[in-house]
Amino acid sequence: MEGVIRVTTQTFRQMKVERIPISVLTAYDYSMARILDRAGIDALLVGDSASNVMAGHETTLPITLDQMIYHAQCVVRAVERAFVIVDLPFGAYQGNSQQALVSAIRVMKESGAHAVKIEGGQPVLSAIKIIHQTGIPIMGHLGLTPQSIYRFGTYKVRAQDPEEADQLREDAFELQKAGCFAIVLEKIPAELASEISSSLTIPTIGIGAGNGCDGQILVTHDALGLNNDFHPRFVRRYSNLEESMSTAVKSYVDDVRSRLFPSTHESY
Ligand code: KIV
Repeated sequence: MEGVIRVTTQTFRQMKVERIPISVLTAYDYSMARILDRAGIDALLVGDSASNVMAGHETTLPITLDQMIYHAQCVVRAVERAFVIVDLPFGAYQGNSQQALVSAIRVMKESGAHAVKIEGGQPVLSAIKIIHQTGIPIMGHLGLTPQSIYRFGTYKVRAQDPEEADQLREDAFELQKAGCFAIVLEKIPAELASEISSSLTIPTIGIGAGNGCDGQILVTHDALGLNNDFHPRFVRRYSNLEESMSTAVKSYVDDVRSRLFPSTHESY
């Protein structure tokens, strides 16, 4: 891509000011990241959902920092325009700001990504502050934070009761104050997400948080229909790649079995 203008944290700020919604998808590998970047996505999240989507784990908890760095390296190699954010995985930052800093620096140095994402509010504020001081951009993540799934015990919508909603409002302000450049709001009532989005100066990126956020994120494999076993209400499926791929693979198997592939044109 010639003369491409890269998306930066400044672009995020500007898009919020100009009320231009920010589009974000997940990416974990070179080939997918290349397609998404060329299609004009604003940012790519190397999410710890790689633990589910790429590795087949039930939760995001097992993925390691080394594995996240590997996925981030693959994505960064493909991207010419999009802003690349990498999740700090479970166990790489909780409860220890110094460890959080070392993890964030490793991600930035070893992958070439542009920012890190951290789940949680008040308990991770000191980690966010110390990372921010080094100049690393941080995206926050509130609401249904999958690394806490065993504490929640359910994937239901968060912050439906007034206490949790108040805590979330306060956390969002604190994250902004601590230096986050944006915050993911996951699976919370649309009205609350909209209220928080209007009260913050940094952009919110919603997933299952309604249309009042400053941007939206989906897991690419859900949006492209690569996993038809998973269809929560907040996912819009823009393609049915599982079906297309399955049909294509069946044709290949048939062609190989019937010796229709390769033809003389496909041979030397
Ligand atoms: O890991 C991930 O994919 C995420 C998004 C769903 C926000 O955190």
